[in-house]
Amino acid sequence: MPDRYAVVGHPVAHSQSPRIHASFARQTGQDMSYEAILAPLDGFGATVRAFISTGGRGMNVTVPFKEEACRLATRLSDRAGVAGAANTLVFDEHGIYGDNTDGVGLVRDIRHNLGRNIAGQRVLLLGAGGAARGTILPLLLEQPAQLVIANRTSEKARRLADEFNEARSLALFPVGSGPAKVQSCGLIELAGQAFDMVIDATSAGLAGELLEIPDSVFAPDCLAYEMVYGQKTPFMTQAHCAGARVSDGLGMLVEQAAEAFHLWRGVRPETTPVLKELRGK
Ligand code: ATR
Repeated sequence: MPDRYAVVGHPVAHSQSPRIHASFARQTGQDMSYEAILAPLDGFGATVRAFISTGGRGMNVTVPFKEEACRLATRLSDRAGVAGAANTLVFDEHGIYGDNTDGVGLVRDIRHNLGRNIAGQRVLLLGAGGAARGTILPLLLEQPAQLVIANRTSEKARRLADEFNEARSLALFPVGSGPAKVQSCGLIELAGQAFDMVIDATSAGLAGELLEIPDSVFAPDCLAYEMVYGQKTPFMTQAHCAGARVSDGLGMLVEQAAEAFHLWRGVRPETTPVLKELRGK
């Protein structure tokens, strides 16, 4: 019997993860299976336990269970603990290990696939929900010159920035010589500010909604990164019209999967051919 892995979510039918991990397994010669499992909204824990009892070795976790996965884990990586969310679980004799590979997936996509260094850059992170939270530590580890969290509800951005600044002042995680402090503001306070990288971690794009941000946030040669993939969001259109280089989040999806695969199997797959295949190139 090959080792079993799965992605669990609700909904999960449209997940690209089975296709991505099947490609990785073929490419690296790993004997494993990977399926999609729909868990009932009130049955995440039971679904995970049933999978473990039938020989499951690891799982990816998607919406809306990432926070619950973090609570279910018996051990957590720093980045999952700080994010308060886990997208990758490993099942072994010690219990359930929870990690979060979303943020490092974003950073890898920006660095390796898009060829941009985050170090020394002025970075604007839009949104203060779960998706934004998961990316803050990996972004800080790259030592940008500035990291500003901007949210429609400015109070939520302030709380998130405060939380990271406090954890950092208590030396709960190492960030080297990055920016002195994570800053925060409301979307409407962005007028007059410019950034080298603007990352959309809001859920506005999924709903086809426009973010109320000024064109001036996109500095010359800016990279505008949309975490959503598979559709052209109003943010992407605005950024393109404002002269920014635009990317969707498909590369982040493939890179977070590669990091999970590495954690499970101890081998790092090549992501470029898989990303090309998904883009139909
Ligand atoms: P996720 O886990 O995907 O991050 P979430 O926790 O519900 O989802 O957070 C959604 C984020 O998108 C929030 O930052 C939200 O802003 P508010 O905190 O002000 O609600 C943001 N968001 C959603 N729709 C938006 C819109 N139309 N304009 C601006 N921000 C939006």
